[in-house]
Amino acid sequence: MDRMDKLLASTGKWSRREVRELIRQGRVKVDGRPVNKPEEKVEPACAVLTVDGVTVDCTPFVYVMLHKPAGLLSATEDRKQPTVLDLLPPELRRRGLFPVGRLDKDTTGLLLLTDDGDLAHRLLSPRKHVDKVYLAQVEGRVDQGDAAVLAEGMVLGDGLRCLPAGLEPLEDGSRCLVTVREGKYHQVKRMLAARGKPVKALHRCAMGPLVLDEGLKPGEWRFLTALERSELQRLDSAT
Ligand code: URA
Repeated sequence: MDRMDKLLASTGKWSRREVRELIRQGRVKVDGRPVNKPEEKVEPACAVLTVDGVTVDCTPFVYVMLHKPAGLLSATEDRKQPTVLDLLPPELRRRGLFPVGRLDKDTTGLLLLTDDGDLAHRLLSPRKHVDKVYLAQVEGRVDQGDAAVLAEGMVLGDGLRCLPAGLEPLEDGSRCLVTVREGKYHQVKRMLAARGKPVKALHRCAMGPLVLDEGLKPGEWRFLTALERSELQRLDSAT
């Protein structure tokens, strides 16, 4: 069950203040009955909501966790190459889901797909400080010197300034965890290449509170759990 004002505002058509005004004016109805209070709860999947007699689609947004395999584009469509949307059933594709941020064609791992544009925008904003964690396999060995340089905020060859990033060498240094909070083009590969440690393989393990489900094989997906959805929403409003 969701609050009436939250639900109508989630369509993006009105602000919460505007919704409250619509309700006050008696223009909002649930199953033909006028709504009296903004905090009134309704089940969005069942109730028919109207504003001025026009039905409003309040079906909740869809959030999908996908284990992206190598070889697919993180795009909604491409005339020549398969995209991650090809892994979803037609009814989900019809909803207009899109990937939240891009992974390179050869990058594997966690990809969130949704039709919630507002959430996607907030998750991707560097100002929101949502960490993305990658497991990188490199040529050569990374060390604490590399970690110190990434932590300072690197300036890449073309003058591109990166925000401070985390690097944790693993085992003998041929693998590492890299944590970035922005999503510049080929960012992790470019940062490590600039340190003379080109990336051989890249895999995203986590994005904010979302961690790739170990039960998902490459190419498999599932809906986010209620807990994961609420963690995303909390992060969304808290930052
Ligand atoms: N950084 C990269 O270089 N590639 C990705 O796919 C994601 C982050």
